[in-house]
Amino acid sequence: MAAAIWFLIALSVYIAGPCNGGVTSYYVRKSSPSVDMPIEHFPPPSGHNVPEQVHITQGDHDGRSVIVSWVTPRKAHSHVVKHWAADKCNHKHKTHASTTTYTYHKYKSGFIHHATIKRLEYDTKYFYEVGHGHETRQFFFTTPPKEGPDVPYTFGIIGDLGQTYDSNSTLEHYMSNPKGQAVLFLGDLSYADHYAYHDNRRWDVWGRFVEKSTAYQPWIWTAGNHELDYGPEFGEPVPFKSYMHRYHVPYKASKSTSPLWYSIKRASAYVIVLSSYSAYGTYTPQYNWLQEELPKVNRSETPWLIILVHSPWYNSNNYHFKEGESMRVMFEPWLVHYKVDMVLSGHVHSYERSERVSNVKYNITDGLCTPVKDPSAPIYLTLGDGGNIEGLANSFTEPQPSYSAFREASFGHATLEIKNRTHAYYTWHRNHDNEPVAADSLWIHNRIWYPEEED
Ligand SMILES: *[C@@H]1O[C@H](CO)[C@@H](O)[C@H](O)[C@H]1NC(C)=O
Ligand SMILES: *[C@@H]1O[C@H](CO)[C@@H](O)[C@H](O)[C@H]1NC(C)=O
Ligand SMILES: *[C@@H]1O[C@H](CO)[C@@H](O)[C@H](O)[C@H]1NC(C)=O
Ligand SMILES: *[C@@H]1O[C@H](CO)[C@@H](O)[C@H](O)[C@H]1NC(C)=O
Repeated sequence: MAAAIWFLIALSVYIAGPCNGGVTSYYVRKSSPSVDMPIEHFPPPSGHNVPEQVHITQGDHDGRSVIVSWVTPRKAHSHVVKHWAADKCNHKHKTHASTTTYTYHKYKSGFIHHATIKRLEYDTKYFYEVGHGHETRQFFFTTPPKEGPDVPYTFGIIGDLGQTYDSNSTLEHYMSNPKGQAVLFLGDLSYADHYAYHDNRRWDVWGRFVEKSTAYQPWIWTAGNHELDYGPEFGEPVPFKSYMHRYHVPYKASKSTSPLWYSIKRASAYVIVLSSYSAYGTYTPQYNWLQEELPKVNRSETPWLIILVHSPWYNSNNYHFKEGESMRVMFEPWLVHYKVDMVLSGHVHSYERSERVSNVKYNITDGLCTPVKDPSAPIYLTLGDGGNIEGLANSFTEPQPSYSAFREASFGHATLEIKNRTHAYYTWHRNHDNEPVAADSLWIHNRIWYPEEED
């Protein structure tokens, strides 16, 4: 019965699309308010000074290092992580962390540790252990295969997660898929700024909530507007203070001067992270960096060029409409020139996939300011659908513009299964379906090795 209903909904989606644009899904999500999970659901692990909020990310440019981060609530000790290859448990290595704390209004953080484990073997399972004496905790991760053009690799894609019951559903759905090896996170982590004085305890709760995934898989971080935590009215004028103390990224390895923009190589993908909330005009550090970065990408080594940026450049929701426009104007010509495969964004709390379009001809006087189909252009994906407390953005512009291929206001996540240098299978999963069900899917063709139109 349920299956039959799903089939009918799926069918109606495909016959009901308006003629100008693509498909506006008519799936109607069961409406329930987005409520944060109570703080009490995520107590610190029991003990005096037990490590918590454990998370890992890539620690260098190539994937042979891992940054392990954790918080000890009462004492700085111990700031050491031990690790060993799964098949060599007699060879334990120690890495020292740098340890930091910060205050935010009346909040005082625990001791935040970041340790970069270096010179790991590719494609190897490692265990690691943080803590001291009988208060230790053990986790594991697997390093990526050495980079190469036909190395298969699967990324999960999550944005705007927050910490509601819907956020939990999104994360559980992602984790129930055994294929995901690393997460491309599109910004807006904890939404602590939803609370009075940006109650930073909500950053701690978020760290505990996502630990079930972040301790075992690298999450590649992008900063969103909810990471700004800009509160000059109560004495907190430094943007990104909490985020930058808690989440470290390997920005120096890509010659960046800021953790807010950087790049990594992983298997067959080259991932460039940009910051919507840092200057990007001509001559700014981010502009200069991206200008030098794009020509460095060797598509014979890493065929898949993927950009992460919080605020979308092509999106047809009324919510946050055109907020990414000035950055699009600055950078889109470069992305088309270098044949970027896809641009992943969050920010808008719904799901949308674009056609391959560009809008780079306008020169003030020529009037050429309409997006046109362009085989050199990326696909733009908006995945601000993680499930945070602000709820869904369910008001789309009408009629659906021609650049929009598929849109739906539901919570969910996506996966990108890179198969080889020519093909990657992309799927979007709404929370109200089971993980194996793909509410939107596409075989993506690489722009360098197989620049054919997608079906
Ligand atoms: C999160 O989801 C999992 C799986 O459905 C469930 O077991 C757990 O209780 C949920 N957590 C909260 C706080 O609701
Ligand atoms: C690009 O990568 C390929 C494959 O690893 C390598 O043979 C080639 O030398 C690289 N090109 C440059 C310019 O580094
Ligand atoms: C803008 O484009 C028009 C039409 O192609 C051309 O005549 C004009 O010279 C261009 N202006 C500039 C400043 O490039
Ligand atoms: C790449 O993967 C696709 C999808 O699995 C497959 O159809 C294609 O034959 C593969 N190409 C090569 C060269 O193996």
